Amino acid sequence: MSKKKESSEMNERMEGEYEDAKERQRVTRNYYSSRPKTFDTMLGGYTQVHDADIQESNQLLQSLFKQYNGKLGSSHCLELGCGIGRVTKNLLSNYFEHIDINDLLEEYCQQTRTLFENDENKIDQSFVCSIGDLELNKFPKYDLIWAQWVLGYLDGDDLVSLLRKLKLTLKKNGLIVIKDNCVGNGQEPEFDPDDQYYVRSGEQFYDIAHRAGFILVKDQSSKLKKVVRELLPIRIFVLALK
Ligand SMILES: C[S@@+](CC[C@H](N)C(=O)[O-])C[C@H]1O[C@@H](n2cnc3c(N)ncnc32)[C@H](O)[C@@H]1O
Repeated sequence: MSKKKESSEMNERMEGEYEDAKERQRVTRNYYSSRPKTFDTMLGGYTQVHDADIQESNQLLQSLFKQYNGKLGSSHCLELGCGIGRVTKNLLSNYFEHIDINDLLEEYCQQTRTLFENDENKIDQSFVCSIGDLELNKFPKYDLIWAQWVLGYLDGDDLVSLLRKLKLTLKKNGLIVIKDNCVGNGQEPEFDPDDQYYVRSGEQFYDIAHRAGFILVKDQSSKLKKVVRELLPIRIFVLALK
């Protein structure tokens, strides 16, 4: 069976993709819980990109703080799909006073918390659930929301709903950073049935951001593919409120 393209208005299913979100989460949960809690698992077997990834993300955050010239706050960040705290500890904790974390796996959220035993106030709330089931307060709390290699676990319509929900929690000048694998525009999306991950094109991300009512303030190609050639192209999108 050939792989189908996700339409902007409806979710057609890919080969091996579960339609039911709970079933999909069960497969994803099994995938991660049967693997060691290591950077290698977080990085799909490419631990060697960790340093370059953090360095690149550091440059991005520094440029955003410069660009927004005092308007981008550093009080509260939310990280979606935090895993074992690779980005939380090595990047976000250096920029934000408090971080709320989310992951489908409780053991990952716990492990992330243990990284901050000497800085008890750094991790605020832990949301152990699928990003699609997040229940967040509707008041603007977050200066920045970081989503790296996690949004592919939701189908297009659920991702639009998530972004609409996140809109209510973002401060006026708040930003959402998405760092993710991307197929080229016009190319067939890819889907990995092992962990139920969907790789979109940039066009699909644009469409989803637009439907959710965000504007795109940055679209940057990651340099990580230069570190490991087998990687899919990775892009960084920064979304802001209209
Ligand atoms: C590829 S790892 C990336 C982890 C982290 N963002 C990083 O870059 O190191 C994907 C993470 O997403 C989590 N995850 C998978 N499905 C999820 C879902 N539906 N909601 C929230 N987290 C999910 C996994 O448990 C895993 O920790």
